[in-house]
Amino acid sequence: MKLRKYITTCAVVSILGAALLAGCGENKDKPESAPEVSVEKTEEPSEATDEPEENKPTDASEMSLKDEYNELFTIGVAVNSWQLEDKETLDVITKDFSSFTCENEMKPDYVLDYEKTIDSDDGMPEINTENMDKIMTMAEDAGLKMRGHTLVWHSQTPEWLFHEDYDEEKDYVGRDTMLERMEAYIKKVLTFCNEKHPGTVYAWDVVNEAASDGEGLREDSPWYITIGEDYIEKAFEYARKYADKDVKLFLNDYNTEVNEKRKVLYDVVVGLHEKGLIDGFGMQSHHDREYFNVDEIRTTIMKFAQLEGLEIQLTELDMHYNDNSEDAMNEQAEAYRAIFDTLVELDKEGFANITNVTFWGLNDGTTWLTGHKKEDSYPLLFDENNEAKPCYYSIFDAVAASDKYAGIKKESE
Ligand code: XIL
Repeated sequence: MKLRKYITTCAVVSILGAALLAGCGENKDKPESAPEVSVEKTEEPSEATDEPEENKPTDASEMSLKDEYNELFTIGVAVNSWQLEDKETLDVITKDFSSFTCENEMKPDYVLDYEKTIDSDDGMPEINTENMDKIMTMAEDAGLKMRGHTLVWHSQTPEWLFHEDYDEEKDYVGRDTMLERMEAYIKKVLTFCNEKHPGTVYAWDVVNEAASDGEGLREDSPWYITIGEDYIEKAFEYARKYADKDVKLFLNDYNTEVNEKRKVLYDVVVGLHEKGLIDGFGMQSHHDREYFNVDEIRTTIMKFAQLEGLEIQLTELDMHYNDNSEDAMNEQAEAYRAIFDTLVELDKEGFANITNVTFWGLNDGTTWLTGHKKEDSYPLLFDENNEAKPCYYSIFDAVAASDKYAGIKKESE
């Protein structure tokens, strides 16, 4: 077991993102900032002799992120079913997380069933429920809730879904047929969840990655091509129609901290919000050492938080570092800490309704980023042996630091 390592590089920490607020130029909607309070960070206790501060646990094995964040938001993780089936891995998951997202297995590619579809009586898409059923049963047995990811996406969706007779050699179908197919597919997935596993999936990414990387919507999505711009609204309309009333419906995207994309997504969410079709905005939050900017994260949260009742979730959090030296991992811990200081502050002070933060993967040995970035990546809370990294501790500490801040604030009132 590893003893807790303090991050020694910062002798003075500004808590609750006070320092982070300075320089957050662009955000007109930002709340009145918290007073700037700096607290001397206590020196690192030398192992074995020093008493841990306030009897706080010093070893990750005695800590639990989900418990520490209990009063603020739930903490989740993206997993594959083999990880739930492996007892040791499941124990690691249930210690720190109360919800999970299937990293792949609830995407259209995995759920839609070609053989059944071409044999279906009504010509509508058919789904394969076996694997979902297995995963949702495991979730229930382990006391875990799930985020559903995802219904409508341009990626990891079978091409045949969009073509006449489900034949890729033929033309795309027209709008009316595609709308019928979309409704049938959403209805089947959500009805299965409602009837067989009520309450297990508490939120769905109804539409994923609708915005382009340039300006506007992603117009080359087959959903956009076959249905038109309102495919997003239609997807939410059907999801609302067939989801249990407690299931929260999300629009989810990446690079939500980039100004152009933020504007496009905001306009979409405003339209859906006015019609009562959306419950939440999902910020994927795939961060990178090179481009990391916590001020932009704050700006995005504050912008969407203007929409009454809208929940905000960080749905796929990770932070790409291609170097796992001690210095790099300590730097990463500070960056993660800046994110969580911001989240804790905004949620606690009532500026935003943040309801879940999900890490995109359990450990550095299984991260999707190593393949995606074509280089090694060390983006997550645990190393490949499930040992907690410095960022685990820095994130854990953000809640207590905010309590400390509240105490200081109280005294000064
Ligand atoms: C990724 C998975 O992690 C990979 O295993 C898979 O090969 C590709 O998809 N945005 C999303 C997620 O919404 O579904 C993606 O997941 C990561 C980017």
